Amino acid sequence: MKILLTGGAGYIGSHTATELLRSGHRVVIVDNLSNSSIDSVRGIEQITGQKVIFYECDILDMSALSNIFRDQKIDAVMHFAGLKAVGESVASPLLYYRNNLISTLNLLKTMQDADCRNLIFSSSATVYGMPETLPVTEDSPLSALNPYGYTKLVQENMLRDIWAADNGWNITLLRYFNPVGADESGIIGENPRGIPNNLFPFIMRVAAGQLEQLGVFGDDYGTPDGTAIRDYIHVADLAKGHIKALERIGGLSIYNLGTGRGYSVLECIRMFEKVTGQKIPFAIKPRRAGDAPIIYANPSKAVTELDWRAEKDLSDMCRDSWNFQNKIIS
Ligand code: NAD
Ligand code: WQD
Repeated sequence: MKILLTGGAGYIGSHTATELLRSGHRVVIVDNLSNSSIDSVRGIEQITGQKVIFYECDILDMSALSNIFRDQKIDAVMHFAGLKAVGESVASPLLYYRNNLISTLNLLKTMQDADCRNLIFSSSATVYGMPETLPVTEDSPLSALNPYGYTKLVQENMLRDIWAADNGWNITLLRYFNPVGADESGIIGENPRGIPNNLFPFIMRVAAGQLEQLGVFGDDYGTPDGTAIRDYIHVADLAKGHIKALERIGGLSIYNLGTGRGYSVLECIRMFEKVTGQKIPFAIKPRRAGDAPIIYANPSKAVTELDWRAEKDLSDMCRDSWNFQNKIIS
């Protein structure tokens, strides 16, 4: 199949593009490179030995997007494009509502006009807000804690409404937990601009000597070591989840993509130190506003219906993240 990936030059999109090519699909990437670079497109080609069709295009530009659908016969879309920094979304909500919502509206209208109605959407565990019951299932209550999270909820609702009005659409919502790691080659990975917000990119910069120490946000949560617990999932497992979702696309479906196992911040630091031999100096800081104490997935729906399960563990995530970090330093 020919798959169009919006935001395909980004972190999760580039790994999924690689997996799609490995599985025999053709890949068209549309990305404005606002949070990525052409190097990742070249990286996908280097890893797979195959060509990617790339358009540097902002999907806020609907006529440019329509032209792409006119020129390429697209079988399905994977919609990764969006801004994703929680703190930035609080500071600049308009930027987030405009970029994440208008772009999705443009995409959906263009798909409808081009009669392409197969869509896999990048949702997030953020839609579970502060979960009261763990692990979270696809039926757990939904809420938003910040404008970024709200854009995901709105996009999910838009997609539900579109499907309800026209069952000719096939829409799969994938709720990612905490994606980390990199392709084993070390050629593509996560390389955020500026000072990272997320735990693993921050650990990488400290290990690389670019930042002095990690702040651990809170050690007084009701968890065994007092630090917050998350469900970290290797980006390569996440990419494989997209292939399984594509193979089984039909109707409206929602899946958690997580491992089902949570790790605390201190466990992540210790595992990273053990796997890489690099010391991570850290200091305990106050809790970060809006952080849930614990969240992890119940991934059994994806296991049963998609025949997918995460195979890589936290040590693989640490090893591959560090391998990528070393390649970008050298
Ligand atoms: P990323 O920033 O690496 O990739 C997103 C890509 O979209 C970037 O390459 C960016 O340049 C592009 N983009 C943004 N706005 C665009 C626009 N208007 N037009 C064209 N391209 C545009 O982020 P990622 O981590 O790969 O995330 C991909 C998707 O998964 C996002 O929708 C994100 O919200 C979602 N998600 C990410 C995480 C995570 O922790 N990384 C977790 C859950 C969900
Ligand atoms: C993980 C843990 C922090 C940085 C975010 C988004 C979520 C989703 C994934 C897109 C938390 C702690 C972090 C640091 C720390 N993205 N931490 N020091 O917050 O679970 O999820 O990314 O959809 O929407 O909210 O991930 O990596 O930021 O934090 O102690 O410097 O590490 O408090 O407990 P989070 P994260």
